Amino acid sequence: MLVCIPKVLDASQIVSLRERLDHANEGWVDGRVTAGYQGAPVKFNQQIDERSEVAHACQRIVVSALERNTMYISAVLPNTIYPPMFNRYGEGMKFGAHVDGSLRIHPIDGRKIRTDVSATLFLTNPEEYDGGELLIEDTYGAHSIKLAAGDMVVYPATSLHQVAPITRGTRTACFFWTQSLIRDDGQRRLLYEMDTAIQRLNQTGADEVARRTLIGCYHNLIREWSTT
Ligand code: NI
Repeated sequence: MLVCIPKVLDASQIVSLRERLDHANEGWVDGRVTAGYQGAPVKFNQQIDERSEVAHACQRIVVSALERNTMYISAVLPNTIYPPMFNRYGEGMKFGAHVDGSLRIHPIDGRKIRTDVSATLFLTNPEEYDGGELLIEDTYGAHSIKLAAGDMVVYPATSLHQVAPITRGTRTACFFWTQSLIRDDGQRRLLYEMDTAIQRLNQTGADEVARRTLIGCYHNLIREWSTT
């Protein structure tokens, strides 16, 4: 399931991140430092050093926004968020077709994190660059994603995806993975649709007994399917 989540960051948070990232200078390193053997040959971009102060300051802004975002929580059902990373693509840069690695080692506590859901949070508005679409393939075909600054797409980490070459300007983004409570994408989709329907029933004052039963089913399915 691919979900676009609008306005994860507000205008002041975007400015704050962009100021830090645009002035990071030597904090930017070759993106291949974190690519596996499959990704490295097709990856041409730059990343902020994960261990740098700039990365930590930016991670705090993004994670606190995610923790308050009900749509992200409902669609992803996060267990562990891998500390968000930041990349940029200048003219001629791209990331060829690849599938993200299945496990990542948490940079601080060394835990293994299974990458169930991939996320890209756009930090540059579409009019500032040409090309740079995130192209994601799923069973319905290929999706071309290019969102406003502050908007985010989440999609199954099992998906083949690529970033098209940049032909003008620079594309800056945040990307990260989440280990979900629910490993299976189909189960996550059912829970997301159920939760969305329950929220709507709550807002429209539907029958209380029926709502309570449905909410119970929702939580009991999470209990049934959760891998933790
Ligand atoms: Ni990727």
